[in-house]
Amino acid sequence: MRMIELEKKLGDFHLQIRDLYLAPGRIHGLIGPNGCGKTTLCRLLAGTLIADAGSIDYEGLKPRDITMTAQKPYMLHDSVYKNLVYPLRLRGIRPDETRVEQWLARCGLADKRKQSARSLSSGEQQKLSFARALIFDPQLVIVDETLSNLDPDSTRLFEGWMLERQATRSITWILISHQLPHLFRVCDEIHFLEKGRHLASGTAEQMLLHPANDAVRRFVAEQSVQSW
Ligand SMILES: Nc1ncnc2c1ncn2[C@@H]1O[C@H](COP(=O)(O)OP(=O)(O)OP(=O)(O)O)[C@@H](O)[C@H]1O
Ligand SMILES: [Mg+2]
Repeated sequence: MRMIELEKKLGDFHLQIRDLYLAPGRIHGLIGPNGCGKTTLCRLLAGTLIADAGSIDYEGLKPRDITMTAQKPYMLHDSVYKNLVYPLRLRGIRPDETRVEQWLARCGLADKRKQSARSLSSGEQQKLSFARALIFDPQLVIVDETLSNLDPDSTRLFEGWMLERQATRSITWILISHQLPHLFRVCDEIHFLEKGRHLASGTAEQMLLHPANDAVRRFVAEQSVQSW
């Protein structure tokens, strides 16, 4: 996916991405200070926000292949089960009940399938939102801080599922997160934004362990990943 001269103004904020390439089939991490434009950029990619200028070459990806989990997961006023199968219904796909059961079990929600999704704890909602994003076999999954409330065991579990998926049939992931150790464990590439601009990209090791760019080095040092 290539973004060229992509621009979006929101109030005083101005996102300007000159040229950013996200290689397909890889896990990309998107980092940068609060308010630097990570969510805005991903909403442009997901098509929930329209750019003022510029272009995105999706290299054949169709809107129905793309999913984005929100920073604050949105739950329908309905049961856990109905929330989980919603993306399938939206696309006219009949749910494969074995897979649905598998996802409910994986998320530890098998006993809560009839419970109102809005009554789940925030970590449970995040798990459900992640499962809901994956259930229809998307080609591009954008995860906006959706794993941020998970306990360490659950985070590791999700990392395992992502890597397992990549080993069988790789898809493209974009993970927005402030948890740099989490990104380091799963990402192939990391991209850094600051004040609406893309400043640097590189492998997880280059960007998090040996950042060449001053702004990235400061950002990483502040998150104290040097002491992992
Ligand atoms: N509808 C809007 N009107 C005005 N400003 C907006 C609007 N939406 C977003 N912004 C501003 O755009 C900037 C970028 O927001 P964005 O949500 O993309 O940041 P972010 O990098 O995802 O930050 P965080 O790490 O806190 O999630 C912020 O300063 C935000 O206040
Ligand atoms: Mg955000």
